[in-house]
Amino acid sequence: MEAKRHKRKLEYSDIDLSRWKEYEEILTDSLWIMSSRQNTNGHVFDYHGNFIPQIANQTFQRYTRECDIVVDWFLGSGTSAIEAVNLSRRLIGVELKPEMVEHVREKLPLESLEKNVRLINADSASDKARADVNNALREMQAEKAHLAVLHPPYADIIKFSDLDADLSNCSSTDNFLAGFKRVAQNAFDTLEKGRFAVLVIGDKYSAGELDPLGFKCMQVMNEVGFRTKSIIVKNIEGNEKGKGKDSNLWRYRALSGGFYIFKHEYVMIFFK
Ligand SMILES: C[S@@+](CC[C@H](N)C(=O)[O-])C[C@H]1O[C@@H](n2cnc3c(N)ncnc32)[C@H](O)[C@@H]1O
Repeated sequence: MEAKRHKRKLEYSDIDLSRWKEYEEILTDSLWIMSSRQNTNGHVFDYHGNFIPQIANQTFQRYTRECDIVVDWFLGSGTSAIEAVNLSRRLIGVELKPEMVEHVREKLPLESLEKNVRLINADSASDKARADVNNALREMQAEKAHLAVLHPPYADIIKFSDLDADLSNCSSTDNFLAGFKRVAQNAFDTLEKGRFAVLVIGDKYSAGELDPLGFKCMQVMNEVGFRTKSIIVKNIEGNEKGKGKDSNLWRYRALSGGFYIFKHEYVMIFFK
């Protein structure tokens, strides 16, 4: 006789564990090979350096429930905001560049902007950003956030603006990590206990040497109090426009320089 099925819910997700075999679309392996960027349901590749929507989709399904509040500390072009609306989650997004905040505002439905999404133009490393996020949480009748998303610049690999507070303008990796630590602290302080944080980050080469930004940022997350749950390695196809003829040049450089061309980044999962 078939065992009686008990509905088993997680505190932090709508996944019903009694139906676990049915969630085929939800990934549980630590290697994510995604062949293309999702470009439906409001998603467009309109910002160099935006993450693919599947990262938001997968992590929101694993680590949030309907109506939960996600805080994205590096909103960029708003991939997380679009996916939050698609999945009936609420979102607070912080972004340094005012024009990007306006751009995201224009992409979202008016009803969501009125009810379920708050966009903040601020330096995420600042006390003001933390105060603004706390105010937004109060407006949404919540004390703390339910998921934190951090997709910072990968140090100076892509320059996002000329603004002094822009983490892509830091003069050294140490300065970048100091700024990132203030954001991580803000994320930790505003997150509910028992909840998760997602860090999306890649490494860089500098002066012929690999600078493991990913592991350095993971250590910073641990220093502010987050505990590491998983490290996912994800291919970076779909993040960049085709390199065309340049890809052969990179291959030559790799062969002659003794290094490997980055084809991966990390999606790191932490909990509080
Ligand atoms: C890698 S992008 C994030 C892309 C985003 N996940 C998306 O899908 O569009 C990093 C973003 O962080 C912003 N940024 C850099 N320094 C910042 C800071 N101190 N506070 C807030 N945003 C910052 C940049 O302007 C850029 O839009």
